[in-house]
Amino acid sequence: MDSENNVIVEYREVTKKFGNFTANDSISLKIYGNTIHSVIGENGAGKSTLMKILFGIYSQDGGELIVKGKPVKFKSPLEAISDNIGMLHQHFELIEDFTIFENVILGSEITNTGVIETKDTRKRIIDLIDKYKLGLDIDNKISEVSISEKQKVEILKLLFRNSEILIFDEPTSVLSPVEVDEFFKIIRMFKAEGKTIILITHKLNEIKELADRVSVLRKGKLVYEVNSNELDLEVLSREIIGPMEVTHLTDERAGTDYDSELLLSFDSVSVKKDNVLKLNGISFHVSSGEVYGICGVEGNGQSEIVDTIIGALKISAGSLKLNTGDVSLVPDDRIGKGMIKEFNIGENVLLREKNVTHFTKKNIKETSEKVISEYDVRLSDSLSPLASLSGGNQQKVIFGRETGLDNKMMVLVHPTRGVDINSSAFIYKIIIEQRNKNKGILLISSDLEEILKLSDRIGVIFKGRISQEYPKSDFTFSNDEDKHNFMVKVGKAMIGIE
Ligand SMILES: Nc1ncnc2c1ncn2[C@@H]1O[C@H](COP(=O)(O)OP(=O)(O)OP(=O)(O)O)[C@@H](O)[C@H]1O
Ligand SMILES: [Mg+2]
Repeated sequence: MDSENNVIVEYREVTKKFGNFTANDSISLKIYGNTIHSVIGENGAGKSTLMKILFGIYSQDGGELIVKGKPVKFKSPLEAISDNIGMLHQHFELIEDFTIFENVILGSEITNTGVIETKDTRKRIIDLIDKYKLGLDIDNKISEVSISEKQKVEILKLLFRNSEILIFDEPTSVLSPVEVDEFFKIIRMFKAEGKTIILITHKLNEIKELADRVSVLRKGKLVYEVNSNELDLEVLSREIIGPMEVTHLTDERAGTDYDSELLLSFDSVSVKKDNVLKLNGISFHVSSGEVYGICGVEGNGQSEIVDTIIGALKISAGSLKLNTGDVSLVPDDRIGKGMIKEFNIGENVLLREKNVTHFTKKNIKETSEKVISEYDVRLSDSLSPLASLSGGNQQKVIFGRETGLDNKMMVLVHPTRGVDINSSAFIYKIIIEQRNKNKGILLISSDLEEILKLSDRIGVIFKGRISQEYPKSDFTFSNDEDKHNFMVKVGKAMIGIE
């Protein structure tokens, strides 16, 4: 791997600035051909920016980028694509109203007559779907498919364009454990075929499992690199966080002697979407002062629970009681459902507050600065549009906004998706604090560790109903073996094996 001839991408002292802010600070980095190279670092460390330079979205302000031995300065992704570079973004860029087929061919020049050669193209795409076992129907509309399928469509786009250098920006943060395994298989197939994979992730276990080499960015600088055969996860996590205090999770209940009050109950609720039964007589409840955790493989009714609570879906049978006013919601799709990406932090927060009738420069700035300091949001300028924030920092903003609303009930869907290790611990701390303030929290996550850490009761969702429910005493462990056995049991329930 260390053979200099095999370097496929090289950054030489590359610097990228946004205004006065340096997102990438003189980074020198080599990526070897046909390897899996991982890039890790805190939210806002500069990972996506560095990769967007390689993909032609940004141009560096200083330094050189060498691809396959040639200095390049791509002016657009089209130029990067023609050099066989492909990037799967942190946020998908698909057109919801188009079919999978239409999305895949969009923007590709595949015709010499001016007309898209649909028949051959269709066959080529179908062959790719078969070869990589993507399991997609190319005539489905994007709006009808799940998040993991959307990701597969993005992968299909890369394959269709013959990408040899594949950049994945936090690909697994939207996937459930089963889907992650499938994704790993696809990545390994790519490597076996000689492709080069750059993988941005926050998950140390993924690095351990997949990466040949890993580079750590911290506050815009490259601070550490190691090959997998010398990888020590302790050392790695210290390099990621740097000389800074780690947030510890305390699980103390703050002597709650509040009366527990029923806030939300689903009683044999059924819900149909496009005539398909998505919730099938589901029953569960959430009271004040507790975290009720729902775990399951994505697509078993989780998003329909949320849509039913917010009134976007009507129930066809059973009864739903919501004994609370407004509900705080951190949705699964933070940009689509949660935020206006052209607005800055302050505007996004004020937008949600009932008593605010107009925005002034002063209250926008104050509100932005409050969220930034409370949630340690890292960004270049406090008034930047949300779209310019790094993924994890956007998540911190929406979480902070919803927590600040002071509603009795909170619905949190994957609250730490895309959030780095230290900030995740911080978000966990706030969730426990909110519970101790006698709020009721419905936590939906595909991360079982997260569910176990935070919940007071757990429900496993499978095919639109809660198939198993466990009280806290079932997952208060005295040793690792008990924990392991419990996780296996729940893991089986998640895929419907008793
Ligand atoms: N277009 C932009 N305009 C202004 N600032 C930007 C822009 N893009 C990124 N930044 C800033 O540069 C910094 C690095 O962002 P980047 O998206 O590269 O972080 P990241 O390491 O990918 O973080 P995350 O893990 O949260 O995705 C952030 O502070 C971000 O606010
Ligand atoms: Mg990023």
